Amino acid sequence: MDSMTAEPTSSSTPKGKPVIRIQNLHKQFGDQVVLKDFNLEMYENENLVLMGKSGSGKSVMIKCLVGLMEPDSGTIEVLGQDITKLDRTQMDELRAEIGFLFQGSALYDSMTVRENLEFPLRRHTKRMNIKDTDELVLEALENVGLARTIDLMPNELSGGMQRRIALARALILKPKIIIYDEPTTGLDPITAKEIIELMTSVQKRYKTSSMIITHDVDCARVISHRMILLLDGTNYAQGTFEELSTSEDPRIRAFFK
Ligand SMILES: Nc1ncnc2c1ncn2[C@@H]1O[C@H](COP(=O)(O)OP(=O)(O)OP(=O)(O)O)[C@@H](O)[C@H]1O
Ligand SMILES: [Mg+2]
Repeated sequence: MDSMTAEPTSSSTPKGKPVIRIQNLHKQFGDQVVLKDFNLEMYENENLVLMGKSGSGKSVMIKCLVGLMEPDSGTIEVLGQDITKLDRTQMDELRAEIGFLFQGSALYDSMTVRENLEFPLRRHTKRMNIKDTDELVLEALENVGLARTIDLMPNELSGGMQRRIALARALILKPKIIIYDEPTTGLDPITAKEIIELMTSVQKRYKTSSMIITHDVDCARVISHRMILLLDGTNYAQGTFEELSTSEDPRIRAFFK
């Protein structure tokens, strides 16, 4: 390991408060240790890119983070709350603060675009005192430049449009944190670039903190304030794109090939 594994050093890192803090996270399935002593901090207004080989435990980490999977040990704080201490209602409330863009677009095929966007609202309208869902749906669609698709079905949209609708859905509750799982995978380079631009503009407009899981080196270059490389179940290295991509460590270099 090298010096980059220590504290985040980058000058370009927006050093706000930490919005996510994971300490000594451990998770195994039978004998298979997936995460061991995994640590991560993500700050306000930060775009944090997480890279790791297929099967390295990125999704497991995310699932622990949003309470879909229980860690064996370790602590996870989201927006200052220890998630292991929350009951169901509290966890639900916290989840409203976290937008999630699933791998693929994961729109509901049998629902129109409008209904897809209303879905996350329905669950939280009462508590959040949302009166006009129509307005929110339209605003979310305008944010991704697709207001005209409101009454279409997902299968009437291109792959890139579906991804943008999924982004609109993830943003509709104006979450403080947004997690993107492979946002550009399967898209052509031009559409991928559009999605990255959209992610950047959204981050600026809503001042969200974003965690971006990606294998896409171009995406990481453009969007990341800071990066973390997950290797052997642990946070192997962190730093800016510049710092990591010029590392001499062959295990780090392998990520940028
Ligand atoms: N519910 C589960 N039960 C048993 N093993 C699991 C479970 N979930 C994940 N694993 C194992 O944990 C390891 C990490 O899986 P994970 O889905 O986190 O990988 P990943 O880094 O997200 O990979 P990819 O880039 O392909 O999405 C894999 O070996 C997987 O088989
Ligand atoms: Mg995964």
